Formats: sequence, C-alpha cells, structure tokens
Amino acid sequence: MLRTHNCGALRLEQVGKEVTLSGWVQRTRNLGGMTFVDLRDRYGITQLAFNMDTNVDLCSQARKLGREFVIQVTGKVIERASKNNNIPTGDIEIEVSNLNILNAAKLPPFTIEDETDGGDDLRMQYRYLDIRRNPVRENLMLRHRMSTETRKYLDSQDFVEVETPYLIKSTPEGARDFIVPSRMNEGQFYALPQSPQTFKQLLMVGGMDKYYQIVKCFRDEDLRADRQPEFTQIDCEMAFVEQEDILNTFEGLTRHLLKEIKGLEINDFPRMTYDDAMRLYGSDKPDIRFEMTFVELNEVTQQNNFIIFDNAELVVGICAKDCADFTRKQLDKLIDFVKRPQIGAKGLVYCKYNPDGTFKSSVDKFFSQEDLAQWAMKMSAKPGDLMLIMAGEISKVRKQLNELRLEVAEQLGLRDPKKFAPLWVVDFPLLEWDEETERYHAMHHPFTSPKAEDLDKLDTDPGAVRANAYDLVLNGSEIGGGSIRIHDKELQRLMFQHLGFTEEEAQAQFGFLMNAFEYGAPPHGGIAFGFDRLCSLFGGQESIRDFIAFPKNNSGRDVMIDAPAIIDNAQLDELNIRLK
Ligand code: AMO
Repeated sequence: MLRTHNCGALRLEQVGKEVTLSGWVQRTRNLGGMTFVDLRDRYGITQLAFNMDTNVDLCSQARKLGREFVIQVTGKVIERASKNNNIPTGDIEIEVSNLNILNAAKLPPFTIEDETDGGDDLRMQYRYLDIRRNPVRENLMLRHRMSTETRKYLDSQDFVEVETPYLIKSTPEGARDFIVPSRMNEGQFYALPQSPQTFKQLLMVGGMDKYYQIVKCFRDEDLRADRQPEFTQIDCEMAFVEQEDILNTFEGLTRHLLKEIKGLEINDFPRMTYDDAMRLYGSDKPDIRFEMTFVELNEVTQQNNFIIFDNAELVVGICAKDCADFTRKQLDKLIDFVKRPQIGAKGLVYCKYNPDGTFKSSVDKFFSQEDLAQWAMKMSAKPGDLMLIMAGEISKVRKQLNELRLEVAEQLGLRDPKKFAPLWVVDFPLLEWDEETERYHAMHHPFTSPKAEDLDKLDTDPGAVRANAYDLVLNGSEIGGGSIRIHDKELQRLMFQHLGFTEEEAQAQFGFLMNAFEYGAPPHGGIAFGFDRLCSLFGGQESIRDFIAFPKNNSGRDVMIDAPAIIDNAQLDELNIRLK
C-alpha cells in the first residue's frame, strides 16, 4: 500500500507514530521557517509540516508543490501547536521526513474547495475534479448509503434483485425512446427501456413473487432540474398483493431510509385522492410541509359586477398567514410572478385583512367591506392575513395558483429542506385526454388496472374511470409511482382498444405480455421510485445533477466525453444507416 493511514484517520492517540500518507495537495502555506501543506483524500485533510531548520531540501521541495499534485509522505505524528477545531484531524500534524511526488498536476481550471469559482459548464467538463470537492463527493456517498440501505430493507422483506435487459422493444411510459440500431438485423432497432415495466410483470408470471432492481431507465424527453435522459429507479413488483400491501411495504422502505440516513422517525404517511389533491392544492404532487390550501370562492365573489370573477369557471384563493404587511412592491412582484409566460395568468387579486379588522383589496371598487369580510370567513382568514385570489378556467387557474402557493411558501421560508412530509396520492384517473392527438392516453401506463367499480364507465365516460394507481410524493416532488396491474388477457386487450390500438398493433407490440397472461398470471402490482430524486431530496437540494456522478446537461450532452457524437461512415455502413 502507498499509505499506512488515510488523510482523515489520525488523532492525538497516534502521536509519536511513524506514518505514510498519500493524497492531493489542497494548499501550501509558506511561513518563513515553516511550510505547511494540506493533504487531501476522500477521507479528510491532514496538515503536513516541513521545517526549514531541520531539513532545507525537503522544505524547499514542499514549497514547489503545486495545487493538486499527488504526493506520498512519511513522517511522525506530532501534536499541533495551534489546533484547528474545524477538522477531525485538527489536533495533529505530520512532521515530514520523506516526500515523494507521485504525479505532478496542471493548475486546475477551478478551485477545488467547497465554494468553487467554477461555473456549471466548467465543472461538468472536468467532472473528475469536481468530484474531488466535498459537496459533490458527499452527495455521491449519500447515494451509496441510500442504495445500500434500500438493498438491506428489500432483502429483509424477501425481495430478489433481478437484472432485466437494456436492449429491448419499446415500453411506453409517456416519453420518446432512445433507439439502438441492430447490425445483425438489418433495418431493425432496439429501444432502451423507459422502465423495466413489462419485464417485471413477466417475472411475476415467472413466479419470482417479489422483485426489485436498482436500474437505469432511458427517456428522451425535455430536461429539467429533476429530470435526466438516463436516470435510476428503485423498481419493484410483488405478486398476490392488493394496493394496501404495496403502500405498506413501500412506506416501510421510505421510513427505513428516513431513519437510517436522516435519523428521522416519520410515521405519518397521509393519503389523499387525486381529486382532493387537485381541488385543495391544484397539483397531483402537493407539498404538505405547510397548509395554505385552496378555498373555492365562486359563491362569495360572483355577481358583484367584477367581470373577471363573474366570467370565471373557478374563483379560488389561498390565505397567507400574517402577510397583511406585504408592501406594494412585494405584491407587485407576486403579480409579475403569476403573469410570467411560464405561468400565464392575467392577474392576481389581493385582499389584506388589516390588524384593525378593516380590509384593503385591489378590487375595492367592486366589493364592500362586508363582501370582503365574507371572503375572509370562507377562507378562515384572521386579522393580519393576506388573501390571494385567482380566477379562470378550472384546470388552468388551479395550476397557476399552485405555482403562486409554492412561491409564497418559498418567500416565507416554509419549504424547509430539513423537514420531510410524505404523502400518498391515490385514485388517479385511468385515462387522460390529449388535446393534440384527440384521444385518451393512459395516465400511468397501459398496464394499470381500472378500479372494478368504475369499469362500467369505460365506454360511457372514460375520463371518469379511476385507476388502482398511486404516487408517493415527498415535499412536493413525485418520488415514486405505481399501480396494481391488469393480469387478465381480455381486460388488457380492452385497455389497448380504448387507447386506440388496433388488434394487430396491440398484438405486434405487446403480444408477448398478453400471451404470458394465458399461462397463469398472478394478481400483481408494484411501484418505482425515482432514485436520483430521492437522493437529492435527502440531500436537501432541488437538482438531481449533483447526485449523479456523470450527468448530462440540459441539452442531453455529456460535455466531458463530448457525447453524443458523429460516428464514421464505415460504422454507419455496417449498420445500414444513411444520413440525409
Ligand atoms: P414513472 O414513470 O412514474 O413510473 O417513474 C417512476 C419515478 O421515476 C422518476 N422519474 C425520473 N427521474 C429522473 N429523470 C427522469 N427523466 C424521470 N422520469 C421519471 C420519478 C417517478 O416517480 N414503470 C412505472 C412504475 C410502476 O408502475 O411500477 C414507472 O416507470 O420520480
């Protein structure tokens, strides 16, 4: 070994010991007679001391060390004269007797410290240097602990990890597929899995009973802070279960992770129907760390000649506690916020419930103090509160008010990343109307079973059919989703029919699954967690990028290896691909 200890190991107990350490030079300080070097590795930082009086050559060698040089030193552990309480090795230093430069290093393009001067692009281009920084390294270590604890828990529950193939045929999860040409099968293509959905169902037909896999999934879709083209799922499936069994099992996993990783005992996993989530929060992934639920106000706001309210399908508001002292500037900022094109609202009505019991609204011309008192009653507002109200088409206005609710909460510091509030959203609609293609799509995926009691509506009112589908939401982020599956061939055939597949198309794409259902398919269901999202939430951050060792940028590029890239003509010919 090129070391006897790592850079985070030594304490006062080892004083007097001869040790060898290896690592990177974080910093060199020349203080006349003494030169100090901070030596870094994954485990920490140890101070090296070089004394001009005892060894001139060694000390001048040390002075020439550049940042990020890889060195090996041997020396004696001594107690430090001035201790550093900020690091675990701060009581000791190494009196170096031998220095060996293992590798010189070019000056790094950004400083390798917690607060770096490197912008996003540069950090991604030199990701291996970025990974030397504590914040990124700690995120990757957190990810490692999360996957270890996940495996421990699932193993304790008798789940078996089974690998499923990456070169497959399309599995519909609502995104586009990444396609891989087949050299041996001219003109034919594999698709990379958007998820292992069909395989895990086939494993249930195969009798594996409880399956899981920490697995890469690939989706060609627009990227955001919480989306990557390749990402990781904790993918699970169970046979002979009902929805309740799945919710309990995966509440267990979430609880286990919160306890082992965050030291938190969270027992409350409330459940809310999709309809309630939309009505009370305008979102299918409500952040319930704080209240500010929607209050529908049509009854007390319409027929007052305020045309915007009178013409609206829905007038709906939130009450921001103790915010009646918001200034004109703060209110204007909120109005500008909802008018941004991404949100697209025409405006926002506010009403301050002053501490003296009077009201001041932006629509005083249309509403009397008595009218406004009625709003306050309906919204359970108290003196000192601020009511924020929006109006319009139901689905649009709910979405807009959801954005406003989150923004106000952010401003009020209510979205505390240290607080964890899980929520199951259940009873999702089975189908979703798509304006563009003018037909119904599966809201989750086509293998999700409808609720038995809604089956008769499939022909008459397809939009009203509910599914045995559920999402696990944590702090307003969808961290997992799943469903009880269809395990009956006829019902699966009927679903494909409702989704606009012809008999031939369904057979060509999913014949393998429907055939399998003829050979004794058990009732089954499952869930998949977005592992990157789960890690970023546990790490208290919004972006999943820094929890992935080598992520893609917003255009789906890996700027470090420069991919995707052009391939040469010989390779194209071999694959029988002609570019236009
Ligand atoms: P779903 O499509 O809901 O379900 O995906 C499960 C979870 O994966 C995460 N996720 C993503 N994370 C990062 N980048 C992405 N592009 C991305 N897309 C999804 C989300 C999501 O909740 N086969 C079903 C599961 C099942 O029915 O068992 C599925 O894939 O956190």
